[in-house]
Amino acid sequence: IKVTYVAPDGTATTLEAEPGSSVMQTAVANDLDGIVGECGGAMMCATCHCYVDPAWQDRTGARSSDEEEMLEGAATEVTEASRLSCQIRLDPALDGLVVHLPEEQH
Ligand code: FES
Repeated sequence: IKVTYVAPDGTATTLEAEPGSSVMQTAVANDLDGIVGECGGAMMCATCHCYVDPAWQDRTGARSSDEEEMLEGAATEVTEASRLSCQIRLDPALDGLVVHLPEEQH
């Protein structure tokens, strides 16, 4: 399963993800700058904030109310496209997913 992370400066990095792992875990496992994932995916930190590419928003689904609440504490602007990347599980239907990274996560 491939996931592409686009940094604020436009640099795109495509990583290979294990099925069932999250967008956050894949980034952290590959030492990608831009996703911190401080709480390890427990929806407690919002340092895994990302923006799902418009072409993929239907497929990644809606955020949960807990996720919504946590995003209020995110360091960067929250938009319609905002998700906690630890809450996006990768399965073959999401092969090719594109997410955009915020300016900073602190
Ligand atoms: Fe902490 Fe996603 S890793 S909320």
